[in-house]
Amino acid sequence: MASSRLKYMSLGVLVFQTTSLVLTMRYSRTLQSEGPRYLASSAVVVAELLKILTCVLLVFKEHSYSMRALNSILRQEIIHKPIETLKLAIPSGIYTLQNNLLYVALSNLDAATYQVTYQLKILTTALFSVSMLGRRLGVYQWLSLLILMTGVALVQWPSESASAAEKEVLSAGSQVVGVTAVLVACCSSGFAGVYFEKILKESKQSVWVRNIQLGMFGLVFGLIGMLLYDGERVRESGMFQGYNTLTWTVVALQALGGLVIAAVIKYADNILKGFATSLSIILSTLISYFWLQDFEPTGVFFLGAILVIVATFLYGYEVKPAVNPSRA
Ligand code: C5P
Repeated sequence: MASSRLKYMSLGVLVFQTTSLVLTMRYSRTLQSEGPRYLASSAVVVAELLKILTCVLLVFKEHSYSMRALNSILRQEIIHKPIETLKLAIPSGIYTLQNNLLYVALSNLDAATYQVTYQLKILTTALFSVSMLGRRLGVYQWLSLLILMTGVALVQWPSESASAAEKEVLSAGSQVVGVTAVLVACCSSGFAGVYFEKILKESKQSVWVRNIQLGMFGLVFGLIGMLLYDGERVRESGMFQGYNTLTWTVVALQALGGLVIAAVIKYADNILKGFATSLSIILSTLISYFWLQDFEPTGVFFLGAILVIVATFLYGYEVKPAVNPSRA
């Protein structure tokens, strides 16, 4: 019962976090910015640091706020188990690669094609869940995943005016590079998520200790990235140049995202995570329409939204008659 509560709670918080992050990022784009823009590579490093700090605090709380217990658990689990710790270098490295691939994709494709193509990760995640975790999906569940993918793609389908504005001069060559980058990112997203799920579900270690291990590698890769891309600028004006309250909000929401995703993967799974993020795409688009008025919902949007909702119900449909009681 408690685990089912954690499952739905983590999924709910994920919907809230993804929606807030998207809205804050959209809002920050509508603001007139003065002075230098913050460095994206620095935001990645700061979010990683925040994540590690929060996880350390959570482990501290798990051990009744005892400094001694915290010290010993971190030593025991992280330093004295180097192989276990190194396992996390794999998803962490892949996530870093993925974040860069998406950057390549966005520079070579228009935003809509990018977002629509990236929905294929719903299927790659399901395929990895089946092949690596031995999960079994019924016909209705596969069907619901296809409907979900179509629905999210339609929700993000550009309206006539937006697509005309976005049609920049993108050469066929750069389209190929962009689409290839998204397709590789779809595979890496599915694989890294499911690999992390396998690690979390196969060991008794706390999800927060695992997240510290993941974050440590993320921090190292992030720092390398920052020095490679923006080394010069960091030496000139520091890594916090251009930071304002909104930047800190985005960074905090991103760090929260890492924590919530870990909790969702532990207490629910990667496939349900796909449903939660799809619902939050609809939610953020609707709020964006009512609040920021920077979006005009079309018939295609509503059709997509209906498909996402139908898929969500259909996915749960076949689970009930199943004999295995652990699949709630
Ligand atoms: O697109 P996708 O769902 O694969 O993105 C997952 C994102 O979540 C990645 O950017 C990754 O860095 C982040 N993540 C995290 N902490 C985790 C798991 C994923 O920050 N424990």
